[in-house]
Amino acid sequence: MNQTTNRLFLEEIGWDDLELVHALHSIPELDEYNTLGIPKDLEETRKVIQSAIDDQQKNPRSQFCWKIGLKTTEQVIGLAGMFPSNDRFRLGEIYYKIHPGFWGKGYATEVAKALVSFGFEELKLHKVEAGVSSENVRSVRVLEKIGMTREGLRRKILPIRGAWKDNYHYAIVEDDPRDY
Ligand SMILES: CC(C)(COP(=O)(O)OP(=O)(O)OC[C@H]1O[C@@H](n2cnc3c(N)ncnc32)[C@H](O)[C@@H]1OP(=O)(O)O)[C@@H](O)C(=O)NCCC(=O)NCCS
Repeated sequence: MNQTTNRLFLEEIGWDDLELVHALHSIPELDEYNTLGIPKDLEETRKVIQSAIDDQQKNPRSQFCWKIGLKTTEQVIGLAGMFPSNDRFRLGEIYYKIHPGFWGKGYATEVAKALVSFGFEELKLHKVEAGVSSENVRSVRVLEKIGMTREGLRRKILPIRGAWKDNYHYAIVEDDPRDY
C-alpha cells in the first residue's frame, strides 16, 4: 500500500529495488545502531527482503517495507517499515532509516508520522511501537517529536558490533494526543 506525505512518497519495495536496498543497508552511518549489521553480499539482502515482498500477496498483512523518495526529484532517500501484530492486541512496530546526506531536514519525522497515521487509520491499530538503542539520540528525538512516550528500558538486549546495548521502548496509543 503506497502513501504520500507533503514532501515524500512511500512505495512498497519490489525485486527491482534489491540493489538500492542493499546500498542503503551497506551505509555505515545507517548501521550504527542496527543489530543486523552490514550485509556481506547481495544474497544476504535478498533474504532480508524476501519476506517483505512475499507478504504483499497476503491478507491480512504482517509486514510492510517502503522505499522513501523525494516527490520533487523522485530520488530514493531511505526505507521505512511496519509490522502489524494481526491479533487482538492490535499492535504495530515501525522503523525508518534516511540516507545521511538527507539528515536534519525533518524527513524521518515526516515518515514516522505517516507510519503512525497509517497504523491507526488504515490498519486500525490500537498502539504503535518502536524500539531504539538508548544511544541513538537522533531517532529518540524523532520518536518524541511524533508524540510517542518512552515506556521502558530493556538493558543490554541489542547485539551491536560485539557489544550489548540498551534499548528504549517507545509507543503511542490511538487516543494519545497527536498534532497530525
Ligand atoms: C534517525 C534518523 C532516521 C533521523 O533522520 P532525520 O531525517 O535526520 O530526522 P529528522 O530531521 O526528522 O529529526 C532529527 C532530530 O534529531 C536531532 N538531532 C540530530 N543530531 C542530534 C544529536 N547529536 N543530539 C540530539 N539531537 C540530534 C535533530 O536536531 C532533529 O530534531 P529537531 O527537529 O528537534 O531539531 C537518521 O539519523 C537515520 O537514518 N539513522 C540511522 C538509522 C536509524 O537509526 N533508524 C532508527 C532506528 S529506531
